[in-house]
Amino acid sequence: MEKQNLRPIFWEGEALRLLDQRLIPGKKEWFLASNAKDVIFAIREMIVRGAPAIAITGLFGAVLELKKVGSKPSYAEFESLLSRILESRPTAVNLRTALEELKSLFPLHSYDSLPFPEMKRKAEEFAVATYEEDIRNNMTLAEHGLSLFSKTDRKLRILTHCNTGALATAGHGTALGVIRSLHKAGFDLTVYADETRPYLQGARLTAWELKEEGIESYLITDSMAGWAMATQKIDAVIVGVDRVAANGDSANKIGTYPLAIVAKYHGVPFYIAATEKSFDFRIPSGKEIPIEMRTQDEVTRFSFLKKADGTPVLEEGMIAPVDVKALNPSFDVTPADLITAFITERGIVKPQDIRSVFGLRL
Ligand code: MRU
Repeated sequence: MEKQNLRPIFWEGEALRLLDQRLIPGKKEWFLASNAKDVIFAIREMIVRGAPAIAITGLFGAVLELKKVGSKPSYAEFESLLSRILESRPTAVNLRTALEELKSLFPLHSYDSLPFPEMKRKAEEFAVATYEEDIRNNMTLAEHGLSLFSKTDRKLRILTHCNTGALATAGHGTALGVIRSLHKAGFDLTVYADETRPYLQGARLTAWELKEEGIESYLITDSMAGWAMATQKIDAVIVGVDRVAANGDSANKIGTYPLAIVAKYHGVPFYIAATEKSFDFRIPSGKEIPIEMRTQDEVTRFSFLKKADGTPVLEEGMIAPVDVKALNPSFDVTPADLITAFITERGIVKPQDIRSVFGLRL
C-alpha cells in the first residue's frame, strides 16, 4: 500500500475490495464483496466505516447486485434493494443522499423502457463518479482549511476525534484530510488524537494513519481532552461529521459533544470538516437525527472486534462485571452554537450561513 495514496475502497468491476478496518493496525487484509448482502455485512460490521466511505460502498453494493441478477429488477425490487442497503447504518446522511441520487437517475416514468445494460452502465458510472468526487472535494476542503492557520515559530497543535482520514472516505479524508494537507504544506504540526471509546477508531485507525504519514502525534484517551486543552496550548479542534441538521446541529462520533463544550470553555476554535453530502436540510435540528445504538459488548469487552469468521481479534477480555448493563450510543449531537465553523469544499462556512451556501441545492 502506498503511503501517499491510502485508499480503503477499490472497485474491481465485478467485486468491491475493502480494506478490513477491524484488523488495523494489526493486519492489512482485504474483504471482497460481490453482492449487496456482502456490502451490507461490511457496513454493519464496520469493515468499512466513516460516513463518506459507507455511502460509496453502499452505491457499489447496488451496482454489484444489478450486475449479479440475471434480468432487470422491477421498479419495486430496485427500490427494495436500495432500502435494504440504506438500513445498514442509520446516522450518517451520506448513504441516504447517495442512494437517492442513484434512484433519481432512473425515474419511474421511463424505468421500464430503459434497457438493463444501460441501467447497469449508468449506475456504475455514477458510483465511480461519486468516489472520485469525494476525493476531489476532500482535497478542496483541506485547501480551504489551510487558510485558517498561519505559520509561526511555534508548533501548530490540533486535537481530533474518531477517524476521518483516508480510511473514512474515498481518500485523503475530511478533518484528517485538513491535517494531512497542513503537514504537506510544511506546517510544524503536533496532533492529539482521541482514542475514541468504545470502538477505538482514534487509537486503531487515526494513530495508524498519522504514523504512516509521518505526522507527529500523541494518542490520548478521550478523558484527557480537557487536560490537553488546559495545558497543551491546543490551537484548534477539527472533527468530521455524520449529519448536519438545518440549524447547524451536528451528529458525530460519541464524545464529540463534550469535546466541543471543553473547547468553548477554553476558547479553542471548534471546526467541523465536511462536504456538502453531510448536510441534511430536511430536519430542522439535531433532535431529529437518528442515533445508532450499538452492542454493549463494545463497552464491556476488549474482544468485540471480530474477524469475518467470528473469531476475536484481541484476546477475550471483559473489562466490566459479567451481565452489567451498558449503553452504547455511537454518536452524539453537538449544538450549532458550539461550532466555530464548517470547513467545506465551498470554503469556511459559519453555522448560521449553511443554508445560504448549501441549502439551495438540497
Ligand atoms: O462509527 P464510524 O466509525 O463510522 O463513525 C465515523 C465518524 O463519526 C466520523 O467522524 C464521520 O463519519 C466523518 S468521516 C469523514
